[in-house]
Amino acid sequence: MSSPSDVLAPRVTAAIAAAFGDDHPDLRDADPVLRPSQYADIQANAALAIAKRVGMPPREVAARIVEHLDVGDVCSEVEISGPGFVNLTLSDGWVSAEVAVVAADDRLGVPVQSPQTIPIDYSAPNVAKEMHVGHLRTTIVGDSLARTLEHLGHHVVRQNHIGDWGTPFGMLIEHLLDVGDGSPEADLLVTDPNAFYQSARAKFDSDDTFQSRSRSRVVALQAGDVDTLVTWDRLVGMSKTYFNLIYGTLGVTLTDADLAGESTYNDELKGICDELEDAGIATISDGALCVFLDGYTGREDKPVPLIIRKSDGGYGYGTTDLATIRYRVQELKADRILYVIGATQALHLNMVWDTARKAGWLPDDVTPIHVQIGNVLGADRKILKTRSGDSLRLMALLEEAVGNARRVIDAARPDLDEPVRAAIAPQIGIGAVKYADLSVAHSSEYVFDLERMLALTGNTGPYLQYAAARIRSIFRAAGLDVVTPEEEARRLVVREPGERTLALLLLQFGSVVTAVGDELEPHRLCGYLFDLAQAFSSFYESCPVLKADDAETRESRLGLCALTLRVLVQGLDLLGVESPEQM
Ligand code: ARG
Repeated sequence: MSSPSDVLAPRVTAAIAAAFGDDHPDLRDADPVLRPSQYADIQANAALAIAKRVGMPPREVAARIVEHLDVGDVCSEVEISGPGFVNLTLSDGWVSAEVAVVAADDRLGVPVQSPQTIPIDYSAPNVAKEMHVGHLRTTIVGDSLARTLEHLGHHVVRQNHIGDWGTPFGMLIEHLLDVGDGSPEADLLVTDPNAFYQSARAKFDSDDTFQSRSRSRVVALQAGDVDTLVTWDRLVGMSKTYFNLIYGTLGVTLTDADLAGESTYNDELKGICDELEDAGIATISDGALCVFLDGYTGREDKPVPLIIRKSDGGYGYGTTDLATIRYRVQELKADRILYVIGATQALHLNMVWDTARKAGWLPDDVTPIHVQIGNVLGADRKILKTRSGDSLRLMALLEEAVGNARRVIDAARPDLDEPVRAAIAPQIGIGAVKYADLSVAHSSEYVFDLERMLALTGNTGPYLQYAAARIRSIFRAAGLDVVTPEEEARRLVVREPGERTLALLLLQFGSVVTAVGDELEPHRLCGYLFDLAQAFSSFYESCPVLKADDAETRESRLGLCALTLRVLVQGLDLLGVESPEQM
């Protein structure tokens, strides 16, 4: 069970070797590019590149390749076209047999890769602050990557590096002590953390005694004062409650067990600085301990340092990130380390990695990867920070999405019972937000536009959910179960163009999921699922299913419907998007 290109590529390679390998040993192992074409199922255009090498017109090269090409068991037609393309048409028999293999496979053709340990650093909001849309995006993209890599057989270790340490904590702790546990002010931490932060900040800016209390509190916190730590812990606990509300609403897989916040690394920081200083990698500059690395210069070629201990003795973001990499390599035994964080942090990460390499904490066989997260913009194309004048509360944004989805489902399916519509609305609303986030390349910016996200047409979550629900309704209408045992017994016979296009896409699911895991690009899966849903739509228009001409055709088409549904549902699940039963 493999995608057509996977099957045909080695055959073309063999044909090239047989045709030209004797005279040109470098062509014994050619890696031809095969791609879907509008003129045939697959097109190989190896001839053009080879022509130059062997000094022969491309069409002649193509003819020589075809002469040696052994694809009788796979293709019904092989044809040379244009300047020297080889067009390959897969035989209906081969397509039917392959698609049946996928249908019989629990994994739907997705291979299990040789397992790696992959820590994924994602979400990472800050305590006592609102999560912003950037956090929303890393949470959604990171979670989809975690699901996909896990499904491919890897050992994923979720690392939620929350901001739970640093100077603002003196002020936050003092404010919590002032307002008192259980007060409405304190409860803001769970409902509107920005409001809590803002009042602490306002007091800090206007009240000198509060300011000096806050400063001493930081010192007490860093010294490990027990009472201070108790209050700090409550503050963090309430923030966790808030994060978990958001995670629950979003349906992401993060739990408290995945928390590995900045404070986790406190005990490591001094040792990290000492080791780097002893090794001569870090040096004191203007009172701060800094690492200067080749190739990092700012204005007027001034070297940019990675500051690992400030002149006041405090440690910074860079120091904790050195600790993350050491921990992930040494303790977690990572093979690949993913940092799903803002694109603007690229410089920071590269400096951290280069420092870690110098220190011997990041060996060559461990690959750190920055999965860059692009900005989410408002309608004004500025970073989305406010909505209708208020500052942005993520929970309010998600509630708005669900509310709008409710209106969509109310309009589309007034016949459904009220509780059913109430249950479907969050699946659509949250699915729409997540899908919109995932369907653009993670490093590109996009405009947050609820109306477009919720559209029932186009490359949207609801369009895919609708395609899945529609297939379910076909089975409901026929009084049939979607999945096995009937389904395994269903004989798949692919004949009509609508059936073929759909079947060929179904054969590609495995290689698409593999590519998403390798390239860390969920938008490829979105693009694939969108193509699949569209192909299903055309198939369904041109090929009657329940009213097919004969029982055999009906069975086969039901089989294609069932497989399409399973692939859609599995694909959406890898994206973290639910599939409503009805829409
Ligand atoms: N808390 C940080 C922020 O809100 C993100 C942390 C990302 N992870 C890391 N290891 N640096 O910007």
